[in-house]
Amino acid sequence: MPVLKKATLEKSASKGSEETEELPKLPVPPLQQTMDMYLKCMKHLVSEEQYKKSKAIVEKFIMPGGVGEMLQQKLLERQEKTENWIHQYWLDDMYLNNRLPLPVNSSPAVIFARHNFQDANDQLRFTANLISGVLDYKTLLDMHALPVDFARGQLSGQPMCMKQYYGLFSSYRLPGPSKDTLVAQESSIMPEPEHIIVACNNQFFVLDVVINFRRLSEGDLFTQLKKIVRMAENEDERLPPIGLLTSDGRAEWSQAREVLMKDSTNRDSLDMIERCMCLVCLDAPTGLELNEANRALQLLHGGGYDKNGGNRWYDKPMQFVVGRDGVCGTICEHSPFDGIVLVQCTEHLLKYMKNSPKKLVRADSVSELPAPRRLRWKCSPEIQGHLASSAEKLQRIVNNLDFTVYRFKGYGKEFIKKQKMSPDAFIQISLQLAFYRCHRKLVPTYESASIRRFRMGRVDNIRSSTAEALAFVKAMMDGKSTISDSEKMEYLRSAIAAQTNYTILAITGMAIDNHLLALRELAREHCKELPEVFTDEMYLSSNRFILSTSQVPTTMEMFCCYGPVVPNGYGACYNPQPESILFCISSFRDCKETSSDTFAKAVEESLTAMGDLCVQHNTKAQTPVKERKSQQENGHRT
Ligand code: COA
Repeated sequence: MPVLKKATLEKSASKGSEETEELPKLPVPPLQQTMDMYLKCMKHLVSEEQYKKSKAIVEKFIMPGGVGEMLQQKLLERQEKTENWIHQYWLDDMYLNNRLPLPVNSSPAVIFARHNFQDANDQLRFTANLISGVLDYKTLLDMHALPVDFARGQLSGQPMCMKQYYGLFSSYRLPGPSKDTLVAQESSIMPEPEHIIVACNNQFFVLDVVINFRRLSEGDLFTQLKKIVRMAENEDERLPPIGLLTSDGRAEWSQAREVLMKDSTNRDSLDMIERCMCLVCLDAPTGLELNEANRALQLLHGGGYDKNGGNRWYDKPMQFVVGRDGVCGTICEHSPFDGIVLVQCTEHLLKYMKNSPKKLVRADSVSELPAPRRLRWKCSPEIQGHLASSAEKLQRIVNNLDFTVYRFKGYGKEFIKKQKMSPDAFIQISLQLAFYRCHRKLVPTYESASIRRFRMGRVDNIRSSTAEALAFVKAMMDGKSTISDSEKMEYLRSAIAAQTNYTILAITGMAIDNHLLALRELAREHCKELPEVFTDEMYLSSNRFILSTSQVPTTMEMFCCYGPVVPNGYGACYNPQPESILFCISSFRDCKETSSDTFAKAVEESLTAMGDLCVQHNTKAQTPVKERKSQQENGHRT
């Protein structure tokens, strides 16, 4: 266990509570509604035989006086007793029970615009400026002075829960043998962290940012960073790349950590890392072409053990990477907050940096500051063995990730709005069409929908592979061309309507995934064995999200990306801009069925075809009937 006393984030409701206690509690959807919706979502995705079998299982589950009703009652009681009935179940299921390595499988990254550092000092000035921004942001958080977010887009204007922001700089994901723990600094007992960990050449240094009750200036930070780089360059003092252990599977890292903890030097080093505000990783140049995809890969996995893969500590929620070659961004441990909160924070920091007067960081500090401290490690042969195995596993992750960044330039969300359609729904349908183009079927799809309109809300799932989407993609891919454009347009409108309706259900707390998860977890607690509805093949396949998607919009030059969630799946993160749409597509090379480039190409074809369909339809609608007839006679495409 960590040396210092900590509290789980779930239990430490002290921070952020005043912003959230006014918000409504997450509602519990009616049982019948969820089960009907579950059947509706899956009917067209499984065989007829499977569907018939699963429908009978569902009917048995919701029988009057049956196990479904009992669990629903328990859930209503849980809703009464807790701030948010799904929060802990969801956190465990989505993150803490997951044993896979964090890089690629769980941790999203935000990639900044490429920087052009003139020299090493320029890189460190930028870093000092960034750290100064973090301190400024942390002050806002500590004073609870962060303005409340309000919902945009569908059902806009409602205030959003701010609790996730308080996990940005004061939480830590502790590995466990069968389950991890999300821990938070308990401010009433422990002082706020006043140090940052700087990683350089796989070495870790404690950078105190408050000395003698004074926050370090940017000049001070610059001076300290220079000292760190000098110390990190000293080959004689170099220690093994312990950070690699955090890139391993969670059970393996937990085991290695137990071994490390036997030594007091290691305990002290771990404690300093676990209690820090964040990490700043000063990366070595990658030697690669610095296109968007390669920059993203540096953030997602660091390029492996022989590049910057060991210059990380994946358990820490916020790691800022500042590469000598200008590759910069943030890599995040996902469990304390969602992508939208991450982007909000990151944009705040970049704005702070843009607006700060540059001359402040030209000069070194004039004050005498104690040198930053290098964290020491005692590496037994057992730890050396763990390190070798972690390095090998990370290399496999690096080699296996098939990743591409694709910018669709044909149009952006303004064009879609002009069609009187929801841009998000339109993009989701294009992803369905792209998937169908590649695989001739649709699959269970995950789209994250924010439920921050509710107290302690995180996300639920919009199941985008609707029956209406299937009808549309089939019409679009109809080889015999027996379906007219106006019929296709009808199919598109119907698919968009189904998607938009599901979105509204999800953001108002009426989607099915959180509800089903809570019923399953309650069944684990209250039933001798899991009801068949949760062991049935249709339920299991409904939770294998071959297409895992998320809208993460940005207003500055940056983008978010992440990996797939199943071995034969795609991660598709998209960023709609007024006149273009950016997609980050990921998949695994060892899966023969998937290819990120092929999928990106299919996205391009789908968006182009859908755009053309809308334009043709509009033109037709605006063309008088007489003129249209003569065009038809002259062989014009209508
Ligand atoms: N006609 C014209 N305009 C429309 C329209 C229509 N029929 N439908 C929507 N629009 C407009 C909206 O008013 C909005 O306008 P704005 O840009 O001026 O605010 C814009 O189009 C975007 O709306 P839409 O595309 O429908 O999506 P949204 O912004 O409501 O987003 C979700 C939908 C599901 C992505 C959003 O609710 C959400 O949950 N986001 C969080 C996702 C998340 O958690 N990501 C990170 C995961 S780690």
